[in-house]
Parts: sequence; C-alpha cells; structure tokens
Amino acid sequence: MSANNTVQTFYDDYAVRNFTVMAVVWGVVGMLMGVIIASQLAFPELNLGISWTSFGRLRPLHTNLVIFAFGGCALFGTSFYVVQRTCQTKLKFSLLSRYVFWGYQAVIAAAIISLPMGYTSGKEYAELEWPIDVLLLIVWLMYATVFFGTIAARKVKHIYVANWFYGAFIIVVAILHIVNSMEVPAGWMKSYSAYAGVQDAMIQWWYGHNAVGFFLTAGFLGMMYYFIPKQAERPIYSYRLSIVHFWGLIFTYMWAGSHHLHYTALPDWTQSVGMVLSLILLAPSWGGMINGMMTMSGAWHKLRDDPILRFLIVALSFYGMSTFEGPMMAIKTVNALSHYTDWTIGHVHSGALGWVGFITMGAIYYLIPRLYGQKQMYSKKAIEIHFWVATIGIVLYITAMWISGVTEGLMWRAMNDDGTLTYTFVEAVKATHPFYIIRMLGGLLYLSGMVIMLWNVLKTRSLGQPARAAIPSHSSTLAHA
Ligand code: HEM
Ligand code: HEM
Repeated sequence: MSANNTVQTFYDDYAVRNFTVMAVVWGVVGMLMGVIIASQLAFPELNLGISWTSFGRLRPLHTNLVIFAFGGCALFGTSFYVVQRTCQTKLKFSLLSRYVFWGYQAVIAAAIISLPMGYTSGKEYAELEWPIDVLLLIVWLMYATVFFGTIAARKVKHIYVANWFYGAFIIVVAILHIVNSMEVPAGWMKSYSAYAGVQDAMIQWWYGHNAVGFFLTAGFLGMMYYFIPKQAERPIYSYRLSIVHFWGLIFTYMWAGSHHLHYTALPDWTQSVGMVLSLILLAPSWGGMINGMMTMSGAWHKLRDDPILRFLIVALSFYGMSTFEGPMMAIKTVNALSHYTDWTIGHVHSGALGWVGFITMGAIYYLIPRLYGQKQMYSKKAIEIHFWVATIGIVLYITAMWISGVTEGLMWRAMNDDGTLTYTFVEAVKATHPFYIIRMLGGLLYLSGMVIMLWNVLKTRSLGQPARAAIPSHSSTLAHA
C-alpha cells in the first residue's frame, strides 16, 4: 500500500521485533554451546560418553547457532528496519515477512534437532541435510522478495549504502548456498555432494570464505553504516569512500577462498591467487573501518558515557584487527605455521566475538527501546557491565588462542639435528591445556554478558508496547542523519 500525504502510515516492524529478540535468545544458546565445547576441549570427560553431547556433534551446532541463528536473526531484523527507514516506506509484502520469520525459526529448530542426532552433510558451515537446505532456500527467496520489493517501492530516489551491503549479502548468500549445496539425495537425511575431490574442496572453501565475507562481514557492514551514524548523530565521514569500500570488498572477497587450502592438492597458482587477493583485501576492509571510525569525528567525547556507541566502535576496532590478521595468515609461509592450530580459532573469534558480536549488540541496544516505545534500555548500568565483561572475555579468549596456536605450530615443526621430531603430538596437546582453560573462562565471561543483555532486553520489552513508528510524509536522506 502506498503512503499518501493525508493518511498517516506506519512502518511494519513485526518481523523486526521478533528477529531482534530472537537474535538475543539464540545468542545465549549458541554461546552456551561454545562454552560447553570449550570446556570439553579442556576436560574431555564432559563429552559424557553420549553421542548426542559429543564434541563432534555440538561443535557444528555451536557454529550454526552463533552464525546463522544469532547473526542471521540480527541481519534479518536490522535489514528490515533499515530498508524501511532509508526508503521511507513500509515493508513490501508484509505477510511474506512474517513467513520469513517463522520459516527461519523452523530452519533453526531443524538444526537444533538434526545436528546432535548426527545428521550432517559434512561440509563446514553447510552441515544441514538437503531437506533443510531446501527449506532455507525457500525462506531466503521470500526474504529477497521482501527486501528488494521494499527497495523498489522506495519513496526516496537514492539507495542508501547500508542497503547495498545488505543487498549484496542477500544475493551472494543465495548463490553460495545453491552452488555449495548441490548434492544427490540418498534418503531423507542423507546426501552426497555433487562435486568430488579437489573441486569439492574448492567449492566448499569458495563457499566458506564468502560465508565469512558476505554473511559475517557485508551484512554487518550494512548494520555499521546505519547504526554508527545514527548513534553518533554524525553523517558518514565519506559517502564516496563507502561506495569504493563496497565495490572493492565485493570484488575481492570472491577470489580469496583458496587461502583455506594452502599446501593441498589444489593447483599451486590457485593458492597464490588466493594469497594475493587476500592481501589486496586489506585495503577495502581498512577503508571501511577508517570510514566508520572517522564518522566519530567531533563525537569522540560521546564514548565516555554512551556504552552503545562503545560497543559499535570497539566492534570496528576488532574488524580492523581481524582484517589485518587474516591477510597475514593468508601468506603461505605464515599459513604454514598457523594452519590447523588454535591461531585460526583466535582469528575466527576476534572477528566473531569482537566484530560480529559487538556490532550486533550495539545495534540491538539501539533498536529495542525504539521497537517497544521506550526512551532507553531498562538498565544503562547493565549495558556498561555487559560491555566490560564481554571485552575482558574476548581478550582472554583470543590471547589464549594466539599463544596456544603459535606454541602448537612451533612444537609440531621443531626438528632435531637428525631429522626426527623434537616433540610428540601429545606434548603439544599438553602444552595447550592451560590456554584451553583460559579460553573457557573468557567464553564464560562473554556468555555472562549475553545473559545480562537478555535480561535487560526482556525487562525493556515488558515495560513497553510494540511501538508503531510513523513514516515521515516528506523525503529526506539518511546519509545526513
Ligand atoms: C561464548 C562465546 C564463544 C565460545 C566460548 C566459543 C567457543 C568455540 C570453540 C571451543 C570452538 C571450537 C574450536 C576448535 O575446534 O578448536 C569454536 C568454533 C567456532 N566458533 Fe565459537 N565460541 C563463542 C562464540 C562464537 C561466536 C559469537 C561466533 C560467531 C559469530 C563463533 C564462531 C565460531 C566459528 C566460525 C567456529 C569454527 C572455527 C573454525 O573451524 O576454524 N563463536 N567456538
Ligand atoms: C581481510 C579479511 C580476512 C582475510 C584475508 C582472512 C583470512 C583468513 C585465513 C588465511 C584463514 C585461515 C585459513 C586456514 O589456515 O585454514 C582464515 C580463517 C577464518 N576466518 Fe578469516 N580472514 C579475514 C577476515 C575475517 C573476519 C572479519 C572473520 C569473522 C568475522 C573471519 C572468519 C574466519 C573464519 C570463521 C575462519 C576459519 C575457517 C575454518 O577453517 O573453518 N575472517 N581467515
């Protein structure tokens, strides 16, 4: 339905509200799984001798829940919020947006049941079996219809850059999912990949790396480009740089996946292409990070008493850090040390906890009071505590993994003069043990922060009512929010 000048129309925030609250709920569950598997790595008896609770089954449950349930719900919710506000029109296909919410929760429920039961396609970050893949595809196509339908119905000429990032995330994830999930069903919960050997590996890591690039990065950059200017009450530092950032990132990510397959049967030149393009990727990544940081010009003092802004800005610092570390790890000689070690796990979690986690938390703290007609979150103090507890948690987690990873790497390749190995494998395992305990404690702190957040969100929600936000009847651009 189109807006007209005399009748007041409202944004459609049903899916936004539900996705936002569920992001927090799934965050708690997914991170709890993280703490459980971290504890199992330190104390293997915690596998309990039951197949359902074994590390091998709970690990993919953790990754699926934190990436797709926590991260995914946050991306769906914020994209539906941002696309309406920046296009100054309500969501197109309102009913479909509700199906998107319930359909996506059904996919998550199917993951929670099937993964511990041991059903898996065996492809990392794409473990779900084919019937769930098909359901996800249907939900994703509905999502794309609502998002791009809303853009087509926009009341402002310009398409704000946050929507470009969200749009790229939606299109590319659809392509990745379809191509990587090509499989031959061999029963209701069993399938074989359509690819074999090194082609299968290349497709898998083209998918895996772009899942990082488009799911864990592009979508969250969409969030960054909306919520940082809003919370800082400053326009984006350079709109032109944001466009260069967009095209640079989109082009480069696509070619870097082979850095996951260094020193494998993949042709050497393909590995080198991956390495070089990963190094190039540093430039657009830092361009975007600097653009976000410089948006704070003249507003730095706000960090002193605005914990939400602190979440958003620290997220950018971790984005900068992990996109520096990633290209370094893509250098073949560095990868010779880091690959298979906990260094990779440290890198993953500086991106995941620092960047993805913090930008999401900042955005959700911004959204919740607005979605429930409140001036602010129930407890600002609780946001402060969450920020510090989580920050200490990340620092413990990633420093423990760096030390443990480099230790492992060095011990594995240390050789005596006669060419025999200096250390047995089990000696390296023993050396990492104290760091696994530190990681477990770091994870516990990060999880505690998330539980505090859930409490604060539920309190704010219980005080308010679902808010109806009116669509302004005149055009204005968000770039100058
Ligand atoms: C309380 C917080 C968390 C804890 C304690 C935790 C713990 C863990 C542990 C123990 C592993 C397995 C490591 C291994 O196999 O050696 C893991 C893997 C992983 N986690 Fe987390 N995690 C947490 C939060 C997150 C979040 C928020 C994300 C993403 C947004 C995430 C993404 C991943 C990914 C992608 C992997 C697989 C890494 C790889 O295969 O290289 N984690 N996590
Ligand atoms: C310029 C950007 C980046 C580059 C070039 C890069 C590069 C790399 C490299 C070289 C590895 C190790 C591959 C291996 O030895 O197996 C890796 C692993 C990984 N990175 Fe990054 N990284 C970047 C940014 C990020 C960010 C921002 C995140 C998270 C939000 C992230 C998440 C991951 C994950 C999940 C893995 C583990 C994949 C697996 O083995 O399961 N990366 N990355």
